[in-house]
Amino acid sequence: MKILFLGDVTARSGRDAVKRRLPELKNETGADFTIINGENAAHGKGITSSIYRQLMEAGADVVTLGNHAFSKSEIRSAMAECPYLIRPANLEPKEDGRAWIVRECLGKRIAVVNVLGSVFMDAATEDPFVTMDNLLNEIEADVILCDLHAEATAEKELFLRVYQDRLAALIGTHTHVQTADEQIYHGCAYISDAGMCGPFDSILGRDCVEVADRLVHKRLTKYTPSEAEAMICGVLIEVDDNTCRAVSIRRIQERP
Ligand code: FE2
Repeated sequence: MKILFLGDVTARSGRDAVKRRLPELKNETGADFTIINGENAAHGKGITSSIYRQLMEAGADVVTLGNHAFSKSEIRSAMAECPYLIRPANLEPKEDGRAWIVRECLGKRIAVVNVLGSVFMDAATEDPFVTMDNLLNEIEADVILCDLHAEATAEKELFLRVYQDRLAALIGTHTHVQTADEQIYHGCAYISDAGMCGPFDSILGRDCVEVADRLVHKRLTKYTPSEAEAMICGVLIEVDDNTCRAVSIRRIQERP
């Protein structure tokens, strides 16, 4: 079974690139199941129910989120109408939406879980290891994949060592910069960060001039996403149909 994971979809150009490219990418890779991190899809922060539906129509099976899950407040009450949208388990408010989901694919139960890291991440309201232990006590599935939305590489690497036997894939998101450390570690596919589907000529998706205004000229700025054409970043994971363990992981990075 092949699983395609696309990293943080960011702003309009990222959404447009995913909508345009995902159907072809699924064909070219033979992906059976597709997960997209959509936490920056709406103007660089958060997601709306309309954008969730666009990502699903483009070919996603599950959409994950992150520290900006609820930046667009309308999504809180709309979570119930977005059945395949999951939010980090250790992010408040916990009553809105769910943090994991199980879907059938090729006769297997695929669980996708979403957890926030705690190192340099103020949004996490519970230790991610406690959160993950609790989730794993609840989930019954053949294949468990985790989107660990986290800043610190060391925390992601430790997470891999702690959960390697329970997870078929641990995919880092949030930094928007794809790392080159993809590997199969004791049957668990891993990458510290899948990278961003968003504006290539940008600073992590944000307008470069605005970031300079803020950091160099010390001006107050709002968040303005770059309008530049987007790159596509993600990974393709292959899971053995018999053992339900990962056998390969390949980086995908397409620049405009
Ligand atoms: Fe994030």
